[in-house]
Amino acid sequence: MGPLDPSDDSGLFRRKDLLGLRFLAASEITHILDVAEQFRGLNLRSIKKVPTLRGKSVVHLFLEPSTRTRTSFDIAAKRMSADTFSISGGASSATKGETLMDTARNLAAMHPDIIVIRHSRAGGAAAVAKALPDTSIINAGDGACEHPTQGLLDLLTIRRALGGFRGRVVTIIGDITHSRVARSNIHGLVKVGAIVRVCGPPTLIPAGIEELGVQVHHTLQTAMHGADVLMALRIQKERIPRGGHFFPTTREYSRLYGINRDKLRRWGNKDVVVMHPGPINRGIELEPEVADGEWSVILNQVENGVAVRMACLYLALGGERAAAQEGRG
Ligand code: NCD
Repeated sequence: MGPLDPSDDSGLFRRKDLLGLRFLAASEITHILDVAEQFRGLNLRSIKKVPTLRGKSVVHLFLEPSTRTRTSFDIAAKRMSADTFSISGGASSATKGETLMDTARNLAAMHPDIIVIRHSRAGGAAAVAKALPDTSIINAGDGACEHPTQGLLDLLTIRRALGGFRGRVVTIIGDITHSRVARSNIHGLVKVGAIVRVCGPPTLIPAGIEELGVQVHHTLQTAMHGADVLMALRIQKERIPRGGHFFPTTREYSRLYGINRDKLRRWGNKDVVVMHPGPINRGIELEPEVADGEWSVILNQVENGVAVRMACLYLALGGERAAAQEGRG
């Protein structure tokens, strides 16, 4: 019985919102991945449209820059026949001083079914979700806090590459302090039984992060030893206060923490997989020979992102509950 089988309501996703992987149980995470796996096939067909969300409307409210996440959500919603509306930072009334809450309340008054929100404030999407009981909210990145759909697409990519999570070692390298991608991955991966290491200069690793169940490394060589996955992250310059210097120079950072072919050959597992959420700063966290090389599953991440977002939109809109009811009725 698959997760889209109407007679199987064992693992139903019963939440209105998707705000962070820290709120989900391991069973919910794997259930979303299973549903995404079923949507993956649709993206490979010549006709990529299904009527699943016909009559539903999805607003994409992106008040921070985005290329992949926004396009991926838009493609996901359109392939399921939802009507989509996009609002971006520069073109919204945020530039006129409107608060996120006011913007969201006004959008909700037009009765969309889902608002997908990206905002620089940690907890922004959660605050909106609480204030709007009739609208599903999906967090597409709230400051340095979480980016749950990125975490899920990363987990799907890892599961497809390795066949599972238990006992597998995932090393996340770079600016852990300011990365919502790191946080969502840590919460998700720890829950599904992976061993998670974080690696970077002490200034870019938050104190006490071990409490989330990760091991901390400050040298790339030890962090890479025996790792199945290396996930490189961008330095989140936009979240570093002006005048803040977290490492001596970009060159020095790249010498210590950048991944190149030579380091992979010397310190990496034979079958190690390299990931990056994008945008890549080539020559800093990853050399082009690695980003484009045989280790890289970076474009698989992007590909899997559409299926994951289809699954999240479908589940948050209660598609599964409706299917189960129809099956019973
Ligand atoms: C990430 C983000 O916005 O948090 N990008 C993404 O969504 N694919 C990572 C980043 O900007 O470095």
